[in-house]
Amino acid sequence: MASVPSLASSVNQRVADALASALPEAGGADPLLRRSDRADFQANGILALAKKAKANPRELATTVVEGIAAGDLIEDIEVSGPGFLNITVSDRAIMETLAARAGDDRLGVPYAANAGTTVIDYAQPNVAKEMHVGHLRSAVIGAAMVEILEFTGEKVVRRHHIGDWGTQFGMLIQYLLEHPHELDHKSEAEVSGEEAMSNLNRLYKASRALFDSDEEFKTRARARVVDLQAGDEQTLAMWQRFVDESKIYFYSVFDKLDMDIQDQDVVGESGYNDMLVETCKLLEDSGVAVRSNGALCVFFDEYKGPDGNPTPLIVQKSDGGFGYAATDLSAIRDRVGNLKADTLIYVVDARQSLHFKMVFETARRAGWLNDEVKAVQLAFGTVLGKDGKPFKTREGETVRLVDLLDEAVERAASVVREKAQDLTEAEIAERAAQVGIGAVKYADLSTSAARDYKFDLDQMVSLTGDTSVYLQYAYARIQSILRKAGQARPTAHPELALTPSERALGLHLDQFGELIAEAAQEHAPHKVAAYLYQLASLYTTFYAECPVLKADTPEQVENRLFLCELTARTLTKGMSLLGIRTPERL
Ligand code: ARG
Repeated sequence: MASVPSLASSVNQRVADALASALPEAGGADPLLRRSDRADFQANGILALAKKAKANPRELATTVVEGIAAGDLIEDIEVSGPGFLNITVSDRAIMETLAARAGDDRLGVPYAANAGTTVIDYAQPNVAKEMHVGHLRSAVIGAAMVEILEFTGEKVVRRHHIGDWGTQFGMLIQYLLEHPHELDHKSEAEVSGEEAMSNLNRLYKASRALFDSDEEFKTRARARVVDLQAGDEQTLAMWQRFVDESKIYFYSVFDKLDMDIQDQDVVGESGYNDMLVETCKLLEDSGVAVRSNGALCVFFDEYKGPDGNPTPLIVQKSDGGFGYAATDLSAIRDRVGNLKADTLIYVVDARQSLHFKMVFETARRAGWLNDEVKAVQLAFGTVLGKDGKPFKTREGETVRLVDLLDEAVERAASVVREKAQDLTEAEIAERAAQVGIGAVKYADLSTSAARDYKFDLDQMVSLTGDTSVYLQYAYARIQSILRKAGQARPTAHPELALTPSERALGLHLDQFGELIAEAAQEHAPHKVAAYLYQLASLYTTFYAECPVLKADTPEQVENRLFLCELTARTLTKGMSLLGIRTPERL
């Protein structure tokens, strides 16, 4: 099946084309078509056009109406208000367009005309530390962005910028050197993610205690940082054991999240170590950074601390140590220079926004970012508890991500069990994971990333309302209808008249391509979630009003089965972009 090369296949685009040919002097100006309550579409573009041409908008609108070629597409078009156009399309146009899209593997979703290379920095936990809800957000939003962009034909390079470098490793490594058997096990297969994390926690606590109580150990630990940065072999080998142990844990969490993270895409802070000295030299030589009290700093007029003094970006500390900024600047050089990215996306907590503003501005001054490369932080808000405060345990500690995920799956199991009629225990467990993890992801993706949201498991696994469970049930219900259809095959019959709920569903299905383009361009996965929720709602209305298998004529049965099937295909495709499974039965 060939892919549809352009948006020409959507009703929306066909109407836009018809308007354009009715008014060639508009020179292809955007008619600003919107779905409307009064008709199928409203076109607002005439107003701007009239203003530009110093013409009367109503007269211009009338010219368009008179110039519209007679044909199968437009059923009714009229001028309204100051110069809007209300447009109703024919039932035939809707069904024919959908039939063409249904014949395509990609559901008629075109590739972006201007596809490029995006490096996306997401799912970046820290070595030897527990993962929390912030890491959940980055992973879930980032993975959705990867899928959405790839679906539009963008080349996407994933980068998991894990926190695997820094002074805390001096302490950890020194401790492990002095207690070499504390991380002994032969292979990954011998430890679970949970055990790996508890090993790391134990080591962390023990080394911290020693560091705080024993001055001599403290001195040895500090010297160890220097060895690490100098690339001492034995030190690096110990460091590698921490990284490996942590990866066992990370992968177990990503696995639970039903997320595929590839080892070659894990390029943490340490991956840029070889570039740090050069990055600093380039910045200093070009004058972008200057020495201030021994530290290498970049200053900005617009960023000041509470005392009115400028807050610089510190690239190298006065003791010679490199920090987070040096790594991020080196990563930009790598991503633009070597990976040839034209877009850099950082899916990172909004609380790091100042850091990224300064890093991007520094990179621009240094010429590592220019007009051909776009760097954006896809900044996300905070996960809140039911009390509206940042999510903490009752003891005030950070909530462990694994505990949350386990609880979500447990809740989902009881929802699935309640509904399940003919499911085995194994099937219930499988569905529970798909429903529970889907619920957590969907709750995260259904509000725009920048906003905070409340983590409320009861609401997340609810069968009604804007939840993934609602969408999964809509999908499973359609599959059940399709199974019961017997001889009747889903087939579009453009000659049939449509009911209002069939039209509404059909027109919404038709907008999938435009929606994907918009979500990709605006880095807005929540728009996909909103689209899918509306799709499921329109389907629910359609299903309540239109008997499918018991429709009046065999053609109508087929036509409605066609709408059912296309809805299911759109749901499952959209959900997969969000990283959420759609079980065939629930
Ligand atoms: N590891 C960091 C954290 O847990 C996030 C890293 C973000 N990416 C970056 N290139 N700085 O907060």
